[in-house]
Order: sequence, then structure tokens, then C-alpha cells
Amino acid sequence: MVLILTLPPAVLTSQQVQTTSSQPDRYRAPVISDTGNLKGPRQPIFFRHDIHAGQDQIPCMYCHYSAAISSEPGIPSLQTCMGCHQLIGGSTPTHQAEIQKVRAAWRDRKPPEWVRVYALPGFARFPHMRHIKRLGTGACATCHGDVQKMPQVQQVSTLRMGWCVRCHMQNNVTRDCSVCHY
Ligand code: HEC
Ligand code: HEC
Ligand code: HEC
Ligand code: HEC
Ligand code: HEC
Repeated sequence: MVLILTLPPAVLTSQQVQTTSSQPDRYRAPVISDTGNLKGPRQPIFFRHDIHAGQDQIPCMYCHYSAAISSEPGIPSLQTCMGCHQLIGGSTPTHQAEIQKVRAAWRDRKPPEWVRVYALPGFARFPHMRHIKRLGTGACATCHGDVQKMPQVQQVSTLRMGWCVRCHMQNNVTRDCSVCHY
């Protein structure tokens, strides 16, 4: 795991946290005051990939671990969030307010209803794990773009049949109708 969290007592009381990743030119997620202009669907909790995967360098697979073993990469459960947010309360009022929503959802056993960003029609089959196995766990960006820099996830690939088939041609993968269509 890349992220190391230090929680000296002073930090615990002020509900702040420091990450000890000490590279000086580490990516810094911007402060965002107007969320209305962000691309992609608005989510029930303003969960920022540019903070988690970008600034704090939490690996994609830490949360989306099932991407390599299942057809559905899956969205992490609140239990995964609370592994950190039991302690991490946020360093700004905005972060604190959003993290409060995470804690309330956990307390009330009401998982957030995340809005799906990438979705194929039901008649097309996409075995996620086969792609990761062959293209590697670093290949997320090939299809999902630079998620580490996204405050809110947006769709960057068309997900059209031509997009699938073009890459299959380049990689000498089957274009047999029945592998993608039931
Ligand atoms: C700390 C946990 C966490 C990490 C780390 C993380 N994600 Fe996510 N991811 C989520 C959550 C929660 C959602 C659902 C909310 C949303 O869409 O922002 C999500 C949604 C997504 C989606 C949209 C899914 C859909 O609805 O179609 C993609 C794509 C994605 N993540 C890719 C990545 C990639 C690529 C990385 C690494 C660069 C990454 N994630 C790292 C928690 C995480
Ligand atoms: C490995 C530790 C870790 C995990 C797991 C994690 N977070 Fe975070 N999260 C952080 C850190 C570090 C910050 C930055 C805190 C700060 O400085 O304000 C943060 C900030 C946040 C914030 C405020 C900034 C923002 O993104 O808008 C929200 C909301 C949040 N997390 C939600 C979640 C949710 C929901 C999950 C589970 C899907 C999750 N976190 C999982 C470490 C984690
Ligand atoms: C070859 C292209 C491709 C690659 C590489 C890829 N994805 Fe996806 N991903 C997709 C497609 C297509 C969907 C929509 C699948 C569907 O609707 O059945 C998707 C869906 C998702 C979802 C939403 C699934 C859900 O259950 O809500 C997440 C999260 C996700 N991908 C994360 C990742 C992560 C993390 C990686 C890297 C480890 C990755 N993807 C690599 C194409 C890709
Ligand atoms: C690599 C995967 C893949 C292969 C191979 C493939 N398709 Fe598709 N197809 C898709 C996806 C994904 C969609 C849904 C997105 C879209 O409509 O472009 C789709 C959509 C379609 C549609 C609906 C188009 C529409 O506008 O609603 C038809 C019809 C279709 N495919 C027929 C075929 C036939 C016939 C073959 C074999 C010659 C084939 N497909 C091979 C992935 C594939
Ligand atoms: C970035 C390149 C890339 C894109 C984009 C891509 N694929 Fe693939 N796909 C591959 C590779 C490489 C394999 C071969 C994996 C293996 O060898 O097991 C594969 C394998 C598959 C398989 C399994 C084939 C078999 O032999 O059983 C299916 C089904 C599939 N892809 C569907 C899709 C669909 C549907 C889309 C579009 C929504 C898509 N793929 C987009 C690269 C891609």
C-alpha cells in the first residue's frame, strides 16, 4: 500500500490528517468551489478520485479489487471507506461535510446510491477481468481516461461497438459476434 497515514494525537483532536508521502512535487488536487461545472454525473457524496487516487495515491485496485477477478469491477462498500474514515475526518470544512455523509450512511446502514457512469446495454457482454488480465492493472486509463485527475468521474470512451472492435483488431482478439452478444 502506497499511502501511509500518520495520526499524532494533535491531528486526531483537530480531525485533520497528514499523509507522509513526502515527494515534494506530488500531484495536488485543486480546491473546487463550484461543483456545478464539473463533467460527469453528480454523485450523492462528492467523492473525489483526484484526491484519493491522485493526491493520496491510493491504488485503483485497493477499492476496485474485483476488477481483476470478476465481470463487474464493483464499487467499494462503505466498509472499505470506513477503514480510513473512522479516523480521517477531513482537513477543510467541505471535506468534513462530505465525510460526515459517509459516516452517517455507515451509521444508518444506508449505502450511497452511486450513479453509474460506464454502462453497456444489456445485450452486450464485457468480461472486465479478461481485459485486466491481458492489458494489466495499469490499463484502466486506456478505457477510463485519467481518473486520477478527475474530481468527478466522467465517461471518456464512446463504448460503441466500433470502439470495442477496433481494439480487438489491433490486438488480434476475436470479433466473433457471439463473444460480445448473447
Ligand atoms: C478510495 C476508493 C477508490 C479508489 C482508490 C479508486 N476508486 Fe474508482 N470509484 C470509487 C467509488 C466510491 C466510485 C463510485 C462513485 C463515483 O463514480 O465517483 C468509483 C467509481 C469509479 C468509476 C466509475 C464507475 C461507473 O459508475 O461506471 C471508474 C471508471 C473508476 N472508479 C475508476 C477508478 C480508477 C481507474 C482508479 C485508479 C486511478 C480508481 N477508480 C480508484 C472508489 C475508488
Ligand atoms: C486508504 C484511505 C482512504 C480510503 C479507503 C477512503 N478514503 Fe476518503 N479520504 C482519504 C484521505 C487521506 C482524504 C483527504 C482528507 C483531507 O485531507 O481532507 C479523504 C477525503 C475524502 C473526502 C473529502 C474529499 C473528497 O473526496 O471530496 C470524502 C467525501 C471521502 N474521502 C469519501 C470516501 C469514500 C466514500 C470512501 C469509500 C468509497 C473513501 N473516502 C475511502 C482516505 C481514504
Ligand atoms: C478495455 C477497456 C477497459 C479497461 C482496460 C478497464 N475498464 Fe472498467 N469498464 C469498461 C467498460 C466497457 C465498463 C462497462 C461494463 C458494463 O457495463 O458491463 C467498465 C466499467 C467499470 C466500472 C463500473 C462497474 C460497476 O460495477 O459499477 C468500474 C468501477 C471500472 N470499470 C473500473 C476499472 C478499473 C479500476 C480498471 C483498471 C484496473 C478498469 N476499469 C479497466 C472498460 C474497461
Ligand atoms: C468486441 C465486442 C463486439 C463484437 C465482436 C460485436 N459487437 Fe455488436 N455491439 C457491441 C456493443 C458494445 C454494442 C452496444 C454499443 C453500440 O450500440 O454501439 C453493440 C451493438 C450491436 C447492435 C445494436 C446496434 C444499435 O445501434 O443498437 C447490433 C445489431 C450488433 N451489435 C450486431 C453485431 C454483429 C452482427 C456482430 C458480428 C458481426 C457484432 N455485433 C459483433 C459489441 C460487439
Ligand atoms: C483497449 C483494447 C480493448 C477494448 C477497448 C475492448 N477490448 Fe475486449 N478484449 C481485449 C483484449 C486484449 C482481449 C483478450 C483477452 C484475453 O486474451 O483473454 C479482449 C477480450 C474480450 C472478450 C473475450 C473474448 C473471448 O475470446 O472470449 C470479450 C467478450 C470482449 N473482449 C468484449 C469487449 C467489449 C464488449 C468491448 C467494448 C465495450 C471491448 N471488449 C473493448 C481488448 C479490448
